[in-house]
Amino acid sequence: MYRIIYKSTATKPVNKENLRDILYASMSRNRTQRVNGVLVATRHHFLQFLEGSHELVEETYRLIEKDHRHCDILLVCAREIQSPRFTNWKMKGVGIFDLNLEIEKKLIEEFGEIDGNLDLPEEEQEAYRLLDYFDL
Ligand SMILES: Cc1cc2nc3c(=O)[nH]c(=O)nc-3n(C[C@H](O)[C@H](O)[C@H](O)COP(=O)(O)O)c2cc1C
Repeated sequence: MYRIIYKSTATKPVNKENLRDILYASMSRNRTQRVNGVLVATRHHFLQFLEGSHELVEETYRLIEKDHRHCDILLVCAREIQSPRFTNWKMKGVGIFDLNLEIEKKLIEEFGEIDGNLDLPEEEQEAYRLLDYFDL
């Protein structure tokens, strides 16, 4: 089992509709590849967690890297893991802009703010701490 986590910058502001488009394509492909994961999005950034076989996660990541909907991809983690964290989700999406303001405020207090939005973590343990807020 292998896990990749990366953070990237959206080339256009993210909203419900374009996030749904990404998730829709991801879900069907990830299902066939048996890759699971979570995609967290703010208006301007993505943080994605991918798990599955080493080969298929790397293959999926190489495809994602080429996608023009984001840039400045920063690899937060890429390693073998003992046990998967995401067995239930082919690709679960969390749009931070969809959360209620109280939760977003709390997240900003903990993880910081960039241009009025939540600043997504760039460090592995912090990335898991963010996930803990979503009961995944
Ligand atoms: C932030 C982001 C996350 C993505 N995550 C996935 C993913 O988990 N799995 C996947 O297959 N495609 C993902 N994609 C889409 C791929 O980059 C690519 O567009 C898609 O897999 C190509 O599918 P198609 O050739 O069938 O159009 C993601 C794209 C973006 C911008």
